[in-house]
Amino acid sequence: MTSADNRPIGMFDSGFGGLTVARAVIDVLPSEDLVYIGDTGRYPYGPRPASEVREFAHEIAWSLVRDHNVKAIVVACNTAAAAAFYELETELPVPVVSVVEPGARALAIATTVRRVGVIGTVGTISSGAYQRALKEVDASLELIATACPGFVEFVERGQTSGDEVVLLAERLLAPIVEANVDALLLGCTHYPYLSRVISEVMGPQVVLVSSADETAFALAEMLHERGLDADLKRTGSHTFLSSGDVEWFADFGRRLLGPELSEASRWEPSAND
Ligand code: DGL
Repeated sequence: MTSADNRPIGMFDSGFGGLTVARAVIDVLPSEDLVYIGDTGRYPYGPRPASEVREFAHEIAWSLVRDHNVKAIVVACNTAAAAAFYELETELPVPVVSVVEPGARALAIATTVRRVGVIGTVGTISSGAYQRALKEVDASLELIATACPGFVEFVERGQTSGDEVVLLAERLLAPIVEANVDALLLGCTHYPYLSRVISEVMGPQVVLVSSADETAFALAEMLHERGLDADLKRTGSHTFLSSGDVEWFADFGRRLLGPELSEASRWEPSAND
C-alpha cells in the first residue's frame, strides 16, 4: 500500500470564476488541502493576447509549485488553459488538469440532437481549444462557439442579474439560440454565476453544462491513479490568495464559494501588467 500524499492541490483563475471549480473540488475531495490563487489584480484575461495570459499562467503555476509545494495543478480558467495548458503540462514537475477536456466530454454526453454550443471569453473561443477538444471526443458533433465579452466583468462586479445582464446575454447568445442546440457548455469558469440569466435566454430545453464537477472528477481520478491521494481520514484546509483587493476577495468570494473562504491573503505577481 502506498503512503498518503498530503501536499496541497494548487488552483488558479484570473479571479472569482475558478471558485466554481474550487467548490466542486472541496466537495469531491474533502481530505485534500487546496491553495487557490485568483489573479484579480490583472483580470480579465479574456481580452488579453494569448502570449500575455501564458506568461501569467506560468508565473502563477510556478509560484504554486515553488512557494506552496503543490502536488498537482488545476487550471481553473479556460482562457489560461487555452493559452498555456500544453506548455504547463510539459514543463511543470507536477501533473496538470485543465477545465477544457472534462467540459468537452460532459457536453458530448449531454446532447441528443448532436448540435451543441460553447460560450467563453474572446481568448478561449478564438484559440479554438474547445473546437479541438470536442473533435477529439466526438468529431460528428456540430458545434456553435461564441465569445461573450462583458460577462466576466459583470460577475467580478457581483452583478449576476438585472436588465443590463439580460440584454447583453440576449444579444451575445442570439447565434446559439438560433442554432437550436440542446446543450450549452459554459466554457468560462465565471459563467456558472450567470446561469440563471443564461438559462432564461436559452430556454428550458437547453441543458447548461459546467465543467466544474467534471474537472473535480478528472482530478480525483488522476490523483488516485498516480497514488497522490491525501489521507482520507483528514479534513483538508483551504488557502485563498489574490493579487487584487484581498478584503473584497474574501468578502465576495465567501458569498460565491461558501464558508471555507474565511480569509484571503496577498499574492504578489512579479510579471509586469
Ligand atoms: N474565468 C476565466 C475563464 O474561464 C477567465 C475570465 C477572464 O478573466 O476573462 O476563461
